[in-house]
Amino acid sequence: MAIIQLPKDFQWGVATAAYQIEGAYNEDGRGLSIWDTFSHTPGKVRNGDNGDIACDSYHRYKEDIKLMKELGVDIYRFSISWPRIFPTGRGPVNSKGLEFYHHFVDELIANGIEPMCTLYHWDLPQSLQDIGGWANREVVEAFVEYSTFIFKEFNGKIKKWITINEPWCISFLSNYEGKHAPGNHNLQLAVTISHHLLLAHGKAVKAFRNLGIEGEIGYAPNVEWIEPFSSKQEDQDACHRGMGIFIEWFFDPVFKGKYPDFMLDWFEQNGAVPEIQEGDMQMISQPIDFVGINFYTGSVGRYNKEAGLLEVEKINIGYQTTDIGWNIYPEGFYKVLNKINNQYGNIPIYITENGACYNDEVINGRVKDEGRIEYLKQHLTSIRRSIETGVNIKGYFAWSLLDNFEWAEGYDMRFGLVHINFHTLERTKKDSYYWYKKIVRNRWFEI
Ligand code: NOJ
Repeated sequence: MAIIQLPKDFQWGVATAAYQIEGAYNEDGRGLSIWDTFSHTPGKVRNGDNGDIACDSYHRYKEDIKLMKELGVDIYRFSISWPRIFPTGRGPVNSKGLEFYHHFVDELIANGIEPMCTLYHWDLPQSLQDIGGWANREVVEAFVEYSTFIFKEFNGKIKKWITINEPWCISFLSNYEGKHAPGNHNLQLAVTISHHLLLAHGKAVKAFRNLGIEGEIGYAPNVEWIEPFSSKQEDQDACHRGMGIFIEWFFDPVFKGKYPDFMLDWFEQNGAVPEIQEGDMQMISQPIDFVGINFYTGSVGRYNKEAGLLEVEKINIGYQTTDIGWNIYPEGFYKVLNKINNQYGNIPIYITENGACYNDEVINGRVKDEGRIEYLKQHLTSIRRSIETGVNIKGYFAWSLLDNFEWAEGYDMRFGLVHINFHTLERTKKDSYYWYKKIVRNRWFEI
C-alpha cells in the first residue's frame, strides 16, 4: 500500500462532448452534423445506434450539473455543437441554440463549477461537409468565424478553451481508416485535413489573442505510447512512426513551426503531402497556454512490412484490456508525458481525457465497476510520477461523467462514472463515482 498525493491546486474535472450526450438532434433549430448523417447510414455504427436522443442532456443538463456538484469537481469540460449555433455552418445564428449554452454555462458557474469549452469535438455541420468538409480551406475560415463568435459571446464566462479535440481522429481515423464520420479512405485527404485542422487551430488562437479574450487556450491531441518489441533499429523506427502520427505530426507544427521530416517522408513515400501555403506554419505555431492530453492506451510494437500504412505491428504480449479491447498501460502514460515534456518544453498540461470502458450493469441499484477504479488509480499514479519528474500537469478530467454515445461503438461501450439506462435515461452513480468523489475531496488515494 502507498499513499498517492496530488497537488493542492490540482484541478479535478470530468469531460463529455455535445454529440455524445445532448440528443435533441432536431430541436430548437439545430442543423445536422456529419455524425447525424454517418450514424443514420446503415452499417456505420454498432447496432445502428445514433445520437438522436443520447443521454438527453439537452433537456436534463440541470440534473447532470447536480451530479457534478455532488461529485465535487472543480471544472467541467464540455463541447459546443457547432450546428446548434450555425445550423448550416456559417451565419445566421440560431438564437435558441446559443441561449441553451448560455443557460448551461450560467448554471455551471452558479454551482461553482468552472466551464472548459471544446469548440470542435467532431460534429461538423453537414452543409460544410457538402462543400468538401475539412479538406476545403473555406471550412477553416468558417471555423474561425464560429470560434470568434463564441469567444465574444462567452468572454468572461468561459476562461479555458480548447480549439480542436483529437486531430488524429478527425483526419486519419475518419478519412483514412474510414471508421468515423465522414468515413473516407484516402491518405491524401487525411493528410490535407490534418494540415487544415492545425491551421484552423492556429487561426482561432490568433483570433482569441487579437480579440483580447480573457483566459487560456490550447488544443487536445490524443496520444499513445508504443514500446519497441526489441532494440532492433527497425522495431525502434516502426514505433517512432507509430507514435509519430499522434505526437510529432500534431505537436511539431504547433511547437516547432514545422512538420517532422520522418513523417513527411513516410507520407510522401505513400503518395501524400500536406498542401502548405505561405504563412501557414507561422499561423499554426502561435504560442498556446496549455496542451490538453487525451490518453487511454498503449502497446508493444514491431516492424512488419505488411502491417498497414506505418508498418508497425502491435503485439499482444498479454496486457489486460478494458471492455473495448484497449490495453491497460499506465507506464505508457508516464512515458508519453515525459516524452512530450522533453520534446516540447515544460508547457502546462491538462489531462483532458482519461478513463476506462467497462460495461458493468446496475444490479440492485448499484454498479460495481472495480475495473474502472483500478484503471483510474493506476493512471493517476502515473500522473503523480510525472509531476514528481517535473512535468507541469495542472489538472485531470475523467472521461466521462456519463455513459454516452461512443461513436462507432454506439451505446454498448460505457466510459461513465454515472450509468445511463438508455431506455429510461435513468442515471445511476457507479462505485467509481463515489471513489472519484473521495479523491476530489481528499486529493490523495491509496494504491
Ligand atoms: C476520445 C474522444 O475524444 C471521446 O469522444 C471518446 O468518447 C473517448 N476518447 C473514448 O473513446
